[in-house]
Amino acid sequence: MNPLLSIDLRSDTVTRPTSGMRAAMAAAEVGDDVFGDDPTVNRLQSVVAERFGFEGALFFPTGTQSNLAALMAHCGRGDEFLVGQEAHTYKYEQGGAAVLGSIQPQPLEHEVHGGISIERIAAAIKSDDYHFARTRLLALENTIGGRVLPSDYQREATEFAHSRGLATHLDGARIFNVMVKRNVDGPTAVAGFDSVSVCLSKGLGAPAGSILLGTRTLIDAARRWRKALGGGMRQAGVLAAAGLYALEHHVQRLAEDHANAEYLAEGLRAAGLKVAPPQTNAVYIEVATSQIDGLRAHLKQRGIFASLAPRTRLMTHMDLPRAKIDRAIQAFRDYPHWPA
Ligand SMILES: Cc1ncc(COP(=O)(O)O)c(C=O)c1O
Repeated sequence: MNPLLSIDLRSDTVTRPTSGMRAAMAAAEVGDDVFGDDPTVNRLQSVVAERFGFEGALFFPTGTQSNLAALMAHCGRGDEFLVGQEAHTYKYEQGGAAVLGSIQPQPLEHEVHGGISIERIAAAIKSDDYHFARTRLLALENTIGGRVLPSDYQREATEFAHSRGLATHLDGARIFNVMVKRNVDGPTAVAGFDSVSVCLSKGLGAPAGSILLGTRTLIDAARRWRKALGGGMRQAGVLAAAGLYALEHHVQRLAEDHANAEYLAEGLRAAGLKVAPPQTNAVYIEVATSQIDGLRAHLKQRGIFASLAPRTRLMTHMDLPRAKIDRAIQAFRDYPHWPA
């Protein structure tokens, strides 16, 4: 189906570059970034470092690679990081830290707000005993499942980690959603973290690209790992230009995605579905297993795509204006086989 007509609720990564973004990419000045010669990549790195108040920044093709290089820069072989059971760095990156970094993950249960309680963190930190891996790092995620970590929690958790000698990493793939939702600047949104991975290819609408932020020393270590992981790109300025364009044009509009998520949630609730109240651009609905195949076919016929599961995540984004949200609500409403 024509992507201009279809309604893709699977993720906020499905957006296509706008004509303005494509023009910026076509016009990008480039060089060989492995030699540090690409002026557009260098500009993007400085812009993002400054925006979040970090000394160093490094451009990566993906958030997965940026997170992994960060974990490998913080931890060595036989070290351990504490991480949520549902965190992207633990569950959705093929265990890269263990597979490629020889770093042991210590997965922990989440609180309702998406963080990990201080008690759980405290209990998981291993003592200095050669039976144990060395606990080096606490990794959190914000937003996580569309939820924004409470700022008090963020402060307490990062302060506690530091007080126990751990470093802190944030998977901030959707940190701009946090900034818009909380109406705070970059340094406030990432306060307490020693490193942050920021994605340009989610709600911001760039075709690729993430930035890792940290001290110059951490970024130097991550740059070595990036090369080993195959992420040393050459004339990457064409991608960096998309990121710079997104930072200039697509940040404040995330508020529209948040408003559309609320609107979608209300519409689906009114249609009789069980819907969790959204905080940012992710709406979670319950779909009985027996309904999944029928509903998928019903939606597909109407040009609507959703990753249906008992707990289905629907995401709003810049390619879904309000009129498409209305069509999506109508299609859910028209499904004839909802349980009575
Ligand atoms: C929270 C989070 N972190 C990291 C990533 C990884 O990003 P990428 O797909 O660019 O590897 C994703 C991808 O959706 C994500 O949702």
